[in-house]
Amino acid sequence: MTASTTRAHASTAPRLPVPRGPLSAAVAEALLDPTAPPPDPAAAHTADPYGDDLHLALYQLYELHYRGFEGVADTREWDPGLLELRRALERRFLTALRADAPAGRTVDEAFGELLLEPVDHSGSVSGYLERDGELRHVREYAALRSLYHLKEADPHVWVIPRLRGRAKAAMVAIEYDEFGAGHADRVHAELFARLMADLGLNTDYGHYLDAAPAEALAIVNLMSLFGLHRALRGALVGHFACVEVTSSPGSRRLAAAMRRLEAGPAAEHFYDEHVEADAVHEQLVRREVIAGLMEDEPGLEGDIAFGADATVLLEDRLGDLLLDRWRRGASALRTPL
Ligand SMILES: [Fe+2]
Ligand SMILES: [Fe+2]
Repeated sequence: MTASTTRAHASTAPRLPVPRGPLSAAVAEALLDPTAPPPDPAAAHTADPYGDDLHLALYQLYELHYRGFEGVADTREWDPGLLELRRALERRFLTALRADAPAGRTVDEAFGELLLEPVDHSGSVSGYLERDGELRHVREYAALRSLYHLKEADPHVWVIPRLRGRAKAAMVAIEYDEFGAGHADRVHAELFARLMADLGLNTDYGHYLDAAPAEALAIVNLMSLFGLHRALRGALVGHFACVEVTSSPGSRRLAAAMRRLEAGPAAEHFYDEHVEADAVHEQLVRREVIAGLMEDEPGLEGDIAFGADATVLLEDRLGDLLLDRWRRGASALRTPL
């Protein structure tokens, strides 16, 4: 091995998070000490599939495929011992999702409900923020969402080599927008960092990992899981389509919240941009990406529906947590800002 392949990521990598149980502690230990025995995958079999320990352990392992962690060698990404544990954690999580999401649905069934805009938004996080949210709530919301938005669109790129024809062309067209259409200052992750700056938040990648509850980590882990496995390409497309379909109306409410709270021009702009862009993305993803993939591989329809349903399941879990805490006047973060 050369010095460059063993060198730890130094400049932009976040620090390892504080462990939340035996699994996440064992992962951190193994990451910091390559000579330590790999964590025992059997420990994953009894872990809470939606719990903090499993999701932090999984998040740490997935992060090796993005930017890694300070003090951890880049080469650990493909460490067989870590991958074995990752597989056990993924199975536990995926088995729970398959059991808890509606089974055997068609794409029309999964997306039919999503396309109907409810009249009453009081039960949704964006509806709450639009009407009753205070600055402290939008700051918490942005801190939690930063775990995804600072790597916005990254996990979806992994599906591209697994698609062809119409589905591939349209997926790339959407991703091109997400990555700023050739302009570094319009990359959506960059727009989100500016939103965070308007809200007085720390814009460092991964900064709020310790503050995020399992419900928030699970949503990011879902994208990484679907993105990294070719076998789950249908689910990745269903997940992505679900995000694009629900984004435009949700972004309209969040933009209104930012305006009412005078959060700042960049905070408004991020959501205004998504009202317009995602109205177009919604059409492209349904008519080209989903329809193209179903034409190529009709057997994936159930997985496309599952990807959307699993996303709704996890978003509802996070939404319930946020609304419950906020309505009680409490913080939704593990460590309040
Ligand atoms: Fe975006
Ligand atoms: Fe989009």
